Amino acid sequence: MATLKLNNLRKSFGSVDIIKGVDLEIEDGEFIVFIGPSGCGKSTLLRMVSGLEEVTSGDIWLDGERVNDHTPFERGVAMVFQSYALYPHMTVAQNMGFPLKMADASADEIERKVRSTAEILQLGHLLDRRPDQLSGGQKQRVAMGRTIVRDPKLFLFDEPLSNLDADLRIEMRVEIEKLHKRLASTMIYVTHDQVEAMTLADRIVVLKDGLIEQIGAPLDLYERPANTFVASFLGAPKINFLDATLLDSDVNSSKLALSDGSQIALPIAVDPSSQGQSMKIGIRPEDLVLGEGDFTVPFQMELHERLGPTSYLHGLCAGNPIIAEHRRRGNVDPEEARSLGVDAAQVHLFDDAGVSVKMTLGAA
Ligand SMILES: Nc1ncnc2c1ncn2[C@@H]1O[C@H](COP(=O)(O)OP(=O)(O)OP(=O)(O)O)[C@@H](O)[C@H]1O
Ligand SMILES: [Mg+2]
Repeated sequence: MATLKLNNLRKSFGSVDIIKGVDLEIEDGEFIVFIGPSGCGKSTLLRMVSGLEEVTSGDIWLDGERVNDHTPFERGVAMVFQSYALYPHMTVAQNMGFPLKMADASADEIERKVRSTAEILQLGHLLDRRPDQLSGGQKQRVAMGRTIVRDPKLFLFDEPLSNLDADLRIEMRVEIEKLHKRLASTMIYVTHDQVEAMTLADRIVVLKDGLIEQIGAPLDLYERPANTFVASFLGAPKINFLDATLLDSDVNSSKLALSDGSQIALPIAVDPSSQGQSMKIGIRPEDLVLGEGDFTVPFQMELHERLGPTSYLHGLCAGNPIIAEHRRRGNVDPEEARSLGVDAAQVHLFDDAGVSVKMTLGAA
């Protein structure tokens, strides 16, 4: 069990700044997920917390103690990597017990901890096998077991499932969820997979260029993204953005011009000082429907992509490429799909710097 506090944490490699001042407080037992584009510093940050990477400046507090100068072992932190190198000549039990052996634990203690950990990970019947006799998911579980036996205060996972095939990923995702419930340990988990992020996290930390863009519960981030970056990072297919200019706004509605000159009236009030500014209207594919809504936007359908239970309508809205999710079966006639309805409560507005604009639903 552990709390973690990062205070203005920075890391430079030579003259290149990689982590540019990260502040973060993690509660005991929380499941935190780091997401962000490749190269934004997720692994570096995790390695700094683990003690594998030195800190350039700032502080790391673990359970109220400043641990900047502590070794990984002293921190009591366990890290599971994407590539889980198991010792090929050792059995599952020996692989799992290895860290305890290195720490001079007694044979009894090793046996007991390996057994109870194998129980948690459903590896009890595989303890005598060697890694080459295991499936990918089983190997990954052994790698996790190897960290659990040490009873770490804090688990750090760096994309542990990215080498597994789709089915195994889902299976292991559920295993990790159960593991977290069972151990109630604090965990930080890095992933590119937003389904993993949305389902596992108590809170998601979105990183970009070595800085935190937004922190929040998964649905908070999805429904109230602070900026266009966070909005487009969560959700697949991505949120649609329509370029627009705010013409007018009163307490009940706002009039916006789309890039082709067509005008739409949103039953939303925006700070009138934004008048004349360019904006982006953000609408998620599932919030665009064929038919009526609080307001409609023009649509020129180009492609109907069927996935089975759902399908996507690709096309243009006033020159902007957009995607609408369509849940009904059957063909869609492009001639009839000339506009899409939108529920005003599901609209996001961003200013020309991409920052979310405060708005209220109109009374009308
Ligand atoms: N030892 C190093 N020396 C110099 N630059 C490094 C070193 N380690 C990482 N970097 C650079 O720091 C940046 C962040 O790397 P990091 O591995 O943390 O990214 P990441 O967010 O984990 O990316 P990915 O999603 O691809 O794993 C990258 O530009 C990388 O090239
Ligand atoms: Mg990485």
